[in-house]
Amino acid sequence: MPLGQRAGDKSDSRYCGVETEFDDDMPQVLASNISGGFDFVVAPLMDPTYRPSLVKSDGSSASVLPFAGSDLILSPSQWSSHVVGKISSWIDLDSEDEVLRIDSEIALKQEIAWASHLSLQACLLPPPRGTSCGNYARCVNQILQGLNNMQLWLRVPLEKPDDDAMDASPNHLSGDSWEWWNSFRLLCEHHSQLSIALDILSSLPSANSLGRWFGEPVRAAIVHTNTFLTNARGYPCLSKRHQRLITGFFNHSIQIVISGKLLHSITMGISELAANHAENDVEGIHRHPLRSYLDYVGYLYQRMDPLPEQERFELGYRDFLQSPLQPLMDNLEAQTYETFEKDTVKYIQYQRAVCKALLDRVPDEKASSVTTVLMVVGAGRGPLVRASLQAAEETGRRLKVYAVEKNPNAVVTLHSLVKLEGWENIVTIISSDMRCWDAPEKADILVSELLGSFGDNELSPECLDGAQRFLKQDGISIPSSYTSFIQPVTASKLYNDVKSHKDLVHFETAYVVKLHSVARLAPSQPVFTFTHPNYSTNKNNQRYKKLRFEIPADTGSAMVHGLAGYFDATLYKDVHLGIEPTLATPNMFSWFAIFFPLRTPVCVQPGSPLDVHFWRCCGSSKVWYEWCITSPCQSPINNSNGRSYWVGL
Ligand SMILES: C[S@@+](CC[C@H](N)C(=O)[O-])C[C@H]1O[C@@H](n2cnc3c(N)ncnc32)[C@H](O)[C@@H]1O
Repeated sequence: MPLGQRAGDKSDSRYCGVETEFDDDMPQVLASNISGGFDFVVAPLMDPTYRPSLVKSDGSSASVLPFAGSDLILSPSQWSSHVVGKISSWIDLDSEDEVLRIDSEIALKQEIAWASHLSLQACLLPPPRGTSCGNYARCVNQILQGLNNMQLWLRVPLEKPDDDAMDASPNHLSGDSWEWWNSFRLLCEHHSQLSIALDILSSLPSANSLGRWFGEPVRAAIVHTNTFLTNARGYPCLSKRHQRLITGFFNHSIQIVISGKLLHSITMGISELAANHAENDVEGIHRHPLRSYLDYVGYLYQRMDPLPEQERFELGYRDFLQSPLQPLMDNLEAQTYETFEKDTVKYIQYQRAVCKALLDRVPDEKASSVTTVLMVVGAGRGPLVRASLQAAEETGRRLKVYAVEKNPNAVVTLHSLVKLEGWENIVTIISSDMRCWDAPEKADILVSELLGSFGDNELSPECLDGAQRFLKQDGISIPSSYTSFIQPVTASKLYNDVKSHKDLVHFETAYVVKLHSVARLAPSQPVFTFTHPNYSTNKNNQRYKKLRFEIPADTGSAMVHGLAGYFDATLYKDVHLGIEPTLATPNMFSWFAIFFPLRTPVCVQPGSPLDVHFWRCCGSSKVWYEWCITSPCQSPINNSNGRSYWVGL
């Protein structure tokens, strides 16, 4: 029974599981836990006393395995929807004891083969014993090579002593369990079916350290009953920090699994029991011993704020890689304009900027005698024309507008808009590329929105350099400047999605993406700034920037899969617009972030900085970015000469 309903949210975190002991009678195990309110069980598939070396073999390879019953004891859908296989915890593939090591390898392979035969969605692997887990990882890696769709959840305790940053030499066996996970996944080459089940303990590491996990492939969080506190009425509850963590898990589709014995014996009255258990008869209730823990987790789920409508709409875009638009080289489609035009916040900001510019340009006493020439360059289907006209009305200034657009299809709609609105005497439509239009007069104000997720990546600088010929010497450009930003991120899902293409081109491409399951490892830093109009004599839109990122010491080590990029634009004076997380314009949804992947993820340790180099390069027909890392290790220079990814001029 799902934990609750959250409009539009169909993520797996609605389902809560329970870890069970081995029991021969799997139908009974499942029935009692499902009727007790849990959605799935994490159950051992094999008798814990079984050891391959103890099986009396008659020498023939056809001896029957004694470890499991029949697959017929549950239906295929019960196996696949309600059972996560728990691999025997006795296995130790890195043991010095050869018999144990070999038994472990055989048992691991048998259990996973059996789980795979049952079409289970996932198996829970016992935790690695520290970072020295070469043989365990080798066997798992072998299994991963031939695995069907099943996920392998590596069990990892969520712990990191506060002081291990002081002591993080490369050979030090760190108490930071992230290091265990990292060693294991590096040995398994970041395999996309290898994921994590975090054991949540009663004490939690720092917020920065916890944050790392949200960029890793965590599928489940196992919460032990001894992690729960007791409230005044004797019920289990969690500390505030644990509550925030669990809510974070819900928001990242991470399923909760309750584990352990009943530690809170609540003496409930029958009416309270009935209220807590409305679906059952009061009489003959077989209340699940862990029900109060499940109810508490359900309460945390239900008390989350509903997702705002826009977030619901964007759920399908979370962590989904998209190619950036090329509005200069390509003509945008009606659907794309439609999406832009829904973002009222963007146009309100433009209207505010135009208002301020009109008031600065024309004093009140000249409001009725002076006409301001305003040119919207890249007018699309006209929303900035409308915003400008509304600004003129709001300020009582007279306006003459030129709407310049190079997409002939958008121009068709522009004409119909002007006619429909009766703007024929105010608005002149120019079907032309702004870089080659021969304007009949000069503009007081040039309004444009040619910004990409990384600011200059849709070639606003090149277009506006071409358009400023017809801006008066003292004229105003809206926007007046824009700056790109980057920050290093852990983003295992994005990395694996890029990797799945198995080619260099995809690793050297930037993607537009609604970042969700990422860990932002350090504050973002500005990269390139462009200012308009630009009257400098040696105008050049090529740029180079070296940035040094320091990851907070209490984070521990972290994996950098790539760089997240954003922009912030000053439209006019204090009116700005952007998506850089700390400056982002609230409720504006026209832009997602941009993601620049790294071919080989880089592990950054506390105290050792990450040095990133970024170039904006310009050729006669294209503009492109190159990027690389030079510390803590050298990466190749990505996208040399724009061989994989470029924006056409
Ligand atoms: C991001 S859209 C913005 C459209 C509209 N102003 C809005 O805010 O909804 C950019 C528009 O600029 C146009 N554009 C891009 N480069 C241009 C150029 N060099 N000359 C004229 N129009 C251009 C594109 O065709 C597109 O319609």
